[in-house]
Amino acid sequence: MLLSLFYVRDLIAYSINPKKFLQNRQAIFGQNFAALGRIIVGDYKDVTEIIASPQKRAAYLGRARLMPRKFSKNFPLFLSDEGAGGSALHETLHNHFWVDVVPSAVTLIDTKETEFTQYIQDGVKVIQDGKKKQAEDEIFKMTIRYMFHAFFGAPLTEKLVNDIFDLAVGGPLSNQVLTGTKPFVYFTYCFQCSRSSKIKKVMEYIMGSPLLAEYVPGEANGNQDSEDYASMLLDVLVIAATLGTSNLIVQVITGIPDDAEIDLNDNKEVMMAILEAARRKSPVNTVNLVLSEERKFVVNGKEKTIPAKTLVGASIGLASLDGSVFASPDVYNHKRENLMKAVINFNHLGFDAKGSGTRQCPGRNIAMKYASDILKLSRSHKAVAY
Ligand code: HEM
Repeated sequence: MLLSLFYVRDLIAYSINPKKFLQNRQAIFGQNFAALGRIIVGDYKDVTEIIASPQKRAAYLGRARLMPRKFSKNFPLFLSDEGAGGSALHETLHNHFWVDVVPSAVTLIDTKETEFTQYIQDGVKVIQDGKKKQAEDEIFKMTIRYMFHAFFGAPLTEKLVNDIFDLAVGGPLSNQVLTGTKPFVYFTYCFQCSRSSKIKKVMEYIMGSPLLAEYVPGEANGNQDSEDYASMLLDVLVIAATLGTSNLIVQVITGIPDDAEIDLNDNKEVMMAILEAARRKSPVNTVNLVLSEERKFVVNGKEKTIPAKTLVGASIGLASLDGSVFASPDVYNHKRENLMKAVINFNHLGFDAKGSGTRQCPGRNIAMKYASDILKLSRSHKAVAY
């Protein structure tokens, strides 16, 4: 009972300001500590080891414990690696995103450059002219218009943009993650019509999309039938693409100082500016895994043996602020000498053109392309209200 009270207290404090909550705890207890019903690992070396190793996964996301049947059965984030008790499915789906799905979406953007540039121009105009709340919402809506069109091959109606917006960041009865989070899910069980009707409409759009018209189950996509495949894509697009990317854009727009000297004609410098903005406030903070065997960690300043089955939250957010790796970690400096080889925001040590690893974010390249175009446009027309 007492532990549950601590958990709920942590959860509320974390929800208000995740970065502050984690940094405050770290200042008291050291790099790794117990919080949010798990061991939070913020030590840079530990985190880089964790993200490179085979992982046992379950239905955890960020700070939340989820009810699995509220999500697609093959959501890659919840699948364990083969080296940690899972099947080969995780690697298959990961490669499918990295090799097929994301490159096809990038090709579509390049072929229909005018339409996709228009999404960004219209969005940045609202963000720069609008009030704070309107600007915040527009970051999500612009991302939804852009990403869903790119992945599924058909533009969304504004009604669908609003439905997806509600699933991504809406209130307690429509928010896709919140309504599937324990213990909240038990209280909202009878009131899930809003979530269900929005998911139904988005599924109709996905099932009728050019992407699904060409879909044939096969080895490369895990032999999923169309319905399961569409449902997996819905989760990836709402949870990974919309939330992760919109958080990144918030950092690109608000987290880079006005006086930072960025040569907007130099693509590498633009990329480094985005990576540095992400490093200072991680768009995707926690990688959750369940220890498949006992492991030693320094927790609360003392070496401890943590038993198998313990839930661990590897904090990309804290590790990215480790002062022993990034000097003056809170200071923005996109010219940091070690930035490209030490950045971990895409769940992989370092950022190189090739990319690798079974758990590296497979949406990395499209997210970086989108963020680069937004950075260039927003800084070349700077009149920011937001
Ligand atoms: C269109 C945009 C995006 C798509 C389609 C996408 C897709 C995905 C997918 C499918 C995974 C699961 C990978 C796996 O376990 O095999 C993943 C993981 C991840 N992505 Fe992305 N992502 C996108 C944007 C972003 C952005 C902007 C960031 C942060 C800068 C990010 C950071 C991560 C991280 C840290 C993970 C690992 C999370 C975990 O394992 O718990 N992603 N992404």
